[in-house]
Amino acid sequence: MRILGICGSLRKGSFNSRLLAAVRPLAPDPMTIDVFDRLGDLPLYNEDLDSRDGGPAAVQTWRDAVRQADGLLIVTPEYNSSIPGVLKNAVDWVSRPVRDAALHGKCVVTMVATTGGGLGRNVLTDLGRVLHDCHAHVVSGPWVVLTEAQTKLVDVEDEQGQFVPTISDPFTTRIAKVQLAALAAAIDGGAGEHAVAPLRAFFAAMPPRPPRR
Ligand SMILES: Cc1cc2nc3c(=O)[nH]c(=O)nc-3n(C[C@H](O)[C@H](O)[C@H](O)COP(=O)(O)O)c2cc1C
Repeated sequence: MRILGICGSLRKGSFNSRLLAAVRPLAPDPMTIDVFDRLGDLPLYNEDLDSRDGGPAAVQTWRDAVRQADGLLIVTPEYNSSIPGVLKNAVDWVSRPVRDAALHGKCVVTMVATTGGGLGRNVLTDLGRVLHDCHAHVVSGPWVVLTEAQTKLVDVEDEQGQFVPTISDPFTTRIAKVQLAALAAAIDGGAGEHAVAPLRAFFAAMPPRPPRR
């Protein structure tokens, strides 16, 4: 079971990319989480660039990565109480073409790390609504909202002598494991297919659209 891990921050030393790294070893067998770290290569969404032959190379790479994954793990900061533009842009690219988008039918887990004390939930609410409208299945809460992330992500030496980011808060670790197990169950249970079934049925009943001029 191949999960694509995505971070909504491009910042070097991002707490969200550290949280993503900390969560990877918590994946239940047989799940593996590969990180896609090229959201910064994507152009701003422009329908003029979104041609029928797949558009820019960075977009094709991103769409292929999402298409090939069994599910997604999105770990993102909250920016101004919502989704960072980098992440929303990436979601927009995989939400098209509207009849057969890479995002359709994907099972998704979302998590947030923030340096603040009480914020973070808004991005998960907004992202969940957007992903739902893009015909993905979003695993419901309890959510991983890692507040004061600068104090709760520590570097711990692993068996190979490498220092790896680790969540120091057992409560958050427990929720992360629950979320990943729920992601595995959602994929096994075909929840993504249910999320996209009405859209597929709608288009199946319609004649193909003529090419746009
Ligand atoms: C433009 C901007 C807006 C932000 N807005 C919020 C916010 O609404 N809620 C919040 O919890 N943190 C907010 N923050 C603080 C981020 O949580 C903090 O910078 C965090 O470290 C960013 O994630 P990163 O470390 O993965 O880059 C904001 C940061 C920036 C740069």
